[in-house]
Amino acid sequence: MAKGTALITGASSGIGAVYAEKLAGRGFDLVIVARDVERLAILSKRLAQEHGVSVAALPADLSRSADLAKVTAKLQGDDSLRMLVNCAGIGPKGPALTAEPERLSDMVYLNVDVLHTLTTVAARIFADRGEGAIINIASVVALMPEHFNATYVASKAFVLALTEALEVELKPKGVRIQAVLPGFTRTEIFDRAGIDINAIPQDMMMDAAEMVDAALAGFDQGEIVTIPSLADVTLWQKYVEARGTLAPHLSLKHAAGRYAIGQRP
Ligand SMILES: NC(=O)c1ccc[n+]([C@@H]2O[C@H](COP(=O)([O-])OP(=O)(O)OC[C@H]3O[C@@H](n4cnc5c(N)ncnc54)[C@H](OP(=O)(O)O)[C@@H]3O)[C@@H](O)[C@H]2O)c1
Repeated sequence: MAKGTALITGASSGIGAVYAEKLAGRGFDLVIVARDVERLAILSKRLAQEHGVSVAALPADLSRSADLAKVTAKLQGDDSLRMLVNCAGIGPKGPALTAEPERLSDMVYLNVDVLHTLTTVAARIFADRGEGAIINIASVVALMPEHFNATYVASKAFVLALTEALEVELKPKGVRIQAVLPGFTRTEIFDRAGIDINAIPQDMMMDAAEMVDAALAGFDQGEIVTIPSLADVTLWQKYVEARGTLAPHLSLKHAAGRYAIGQRP
């Protein structure tokens, strides 16, 4: 049975390129998006030949509004689209206090604004159709904000929160959404950020193919949040439960007693 088309951003390298390969292997036609025209052309030709699917390259610099509009127009105009995979993203060069402010703003725009635009556009279209799926690549740093560049961490926390919140609206419409939280994954992101990949402990570094295989297995199992490294899933379940325990205490008429501000009417 035809799977329809998957549109993948950041498909010219790393995690996005592996998604392109794996989804072509699952029989999806593809629209692959990134800036590098030549790489997209080589990849689309190879995947079409090897998997017998249709692969269209859609070159776009998503940080430019005209190019982003091309991609949203594709989402809106192609009735065969059944899946959006948001992989385009950049990492930081150094800590937030020393990184170039412009690079941090660019990172927020690409990792947050662009992903938000594409996700909400696709969510509305898929909800209207009553089918479809969105996969958002976040990061484990969303769960450990003290351990990485503040801006990058916050951008990935946005992706996680957006995904979990939208799932509440999308589930009744028959639309799937998943946040994938990779740990260190062997891709070009480190080179691009000027980080020596060999300085990272290799027992913390997963190959991109293994990461995506696990993420797709998590998708098949119906997971909303997939953490490929996490062997003991009860640790995540306890974290979600703790949030649930906290929830009834977070918005009340009066301030907590420990602030000692006295009783108010
Ligand atoms: N690798 C890790 O350790 C790791 C861990 C957790 C999360 N992630 C996340 O995984 C995602 C994919 O990263 P990766 O590790 O696969 O890195 P990567 O190999 O550097 O891939 C990044 C992709 O984004 C594209 N891209 C960058 N800027 C773009 C722009 N302005 N417009 C369109 N496309 C753009 C790049 O293509 P062009 O240069 O051709 O445009 C490339 O295809 C990112 O969101 C990243 O934050 C990575």
